[in-house]
Amino acid sequence: QINEAAAVVFSVPSYACQRRTTLQNHNTVLTEALSLLAENAELNEEDGRAIAFRRSEAVLKALPKAVTNLADLRGLPCLGEHSLKIIKDVLKDGVSSEVETTRQSDRYKALKVLTGIFGVGAKTADRWIKMGISTLHQLQASGQTLNQAQQAGLEHYEDLNQPVAKAEADAIGDVVQKVVLSVLPGALITLIGGFRRGKPTGHDVDFLITHPEEGREVGLLPKVASLLKSQGFLLYQKTTRNSYLESDDGPARLSSNMDRFERCFSIFKLEMNPGTTRSGTPRSSSRTESQSDDHSPQTPGGVHENGLESRRRSWRAVRVDLVVSPISQFAFALLGWTGSKLFEREMRRWAGHEKAMSLSSHALYDTKQRRYLRAASEEEIFAHLGLEYIPPSQRNA
Ligand code: CTP
Ligand code: MN
Ligand code: MN
Ligand code: MN
Repeated sequence: QINEAAAVVFSVPSYACQRRTTLQNHNTVLTEALSLLAENAELNEEDGRAIAFRRSEAVLKALPKAVTNLADLRGLPCLGEHSLKIIKDVLKDGVSSEVETTRQSDRYKALKVLTGIFGVGAKTADRWIKMGISTLHQLQASGQTLNQAQQAGLEHYEDLNQPVAKAEADAIGDVVQKVVLSVLPGALITLIGGFRRGKPTGHDVDFLITHPEEGREVGLLPKVASLLKSQGFLLYQKTTRNSYLESDDGPARLSSNMDRFERCFSIFKLEMNPGTTRSGTPRSSSRTESQSDDHSPQTPGGVHENGLESRRRSWRAVRVDLVVSPISQFAFALLGWTGSKLFEREMRRWAGHEKAMSLSSHALYDTKQRRYLRAASEEEIFAHLGLEYIPPSQRNA
C-alpha cells in the first residue's frame, strides 16, 4: 500500500486526562460524525455505546493534525470497530450513511426536540414518544402533566436552546457576585464549566461559590435565590441543600457523578444591552444598535415563547447553575465542575483503575491507605493521581 510509508504516526495516551485537548480541532468532520452517534446513544440510554463513541471522538480531537488516511490511525487507543467503520466511510465519502440515517430518523429528531426542554431527560422523552408525542405541539395538546421545571423549560424553550455567549456569562456573573457578596462578604465566586475551559459559548453558565472560612457558606443559596428572585432576576429556580457526609469507611457510593453540594438550578432573566444580539455576538461598533435582530421565534412545534411572537424583548432566559462548596473541598469541586464531562469521567476511571483511588467532586480517597488525600489546588489533585497537570483550556476532551 502506497500510503503505508506516508502514514503519519500519532502517539496518544489512552486516558483523556493524560492528554492536552484544546478547542482547536483538526478533525471536525470526523468528530462531529462520532459525536452525533454518541449523542444518539445517550438519548437512547445506551451508555456503553455512548462512551465508546465519546472516547473515539476525544482521541481524534487530541490529534495535532487532520487524519487523511486510515493508516494514520494505527496504534491509536480507544478506536473500536464501529468507530473505525464510521471514520473509514467519512474519509472515503465525506459522510457516513449510518450517521445521516440517524440524523434523519424520526426517533432521533423527536428525542432531540423533547430533551431540548429543560427538565426533560431521555426517560421522559422515551415515554412520551411511546404515547405518540414527538413534537412540542403534540406535547401541549396531550395534556401531559408537566412539573415546574418542565413548564418553565417549555415556556423558555427557544431562549434556552440558543447558545450563551461569554459576554452574557460575564454579565450574569456580575449580578451573581453582587448578590452573593451582599449575603456573605468575603465569598469567592468562580466561573466554571465550559467557560472556564475557554469556550466562547455554552448551553448554560456555571458558578462555584465558596468562603475562606469553613462553614460560613452553609445555607447561602436559599438567601441568594430569594434575593435574586425579589430583584426580578429569576424565572425559575430549584435549590437543594448539601447532603455530603465524609465517612471513615471511605466515600459513600455517589450515584454516577452526581455530587451532593448545596446547589441551585435556575433560569435567569438577563437584560440585554442593545449592543448585543440575541445570540450574544457583539454588534459592530457603529450605530446599528436600534436595528438589533427582530425576535421572531421559530420554535419547533410553533410554540411562541411568552406569546410575544415578534414583539421585541429586552431580555433573554439563560440556564444558570450555582454550586456551593466548603473551602476544604473547593479544589475537588473546581476540578469536578470544570469538565469536560469526558475529561472528568476519564479522570475518575484513571483514579479507580490505575491508582485504586476514588475521586469525586468532594474528595479523593485512597483505598489502599484507607484515607482521604487532601488538596488545596487542582495541581495537588493531579499530583496525588500521578498525572501531569492539565490546565482548564486543555481539558476540552
Ligand atoms: N456536572 C456535575 N454534576 C451535574 C452537572 C454537571 O458534576 N449534575 C459537571 C459536569 O461533569 C461538567 C461540569 O459540571 O464537568 C459542567 O457541566 P455542564 O454545564 O453540563 O457542561 P459544560 O462543560 O459547561 O458545557 P456547556 O458549555 O454546554 O454548558
Ligand atoms: Mn458497535
Ligand atoms: Mn455549562
Ligand atoms: Mn451546568
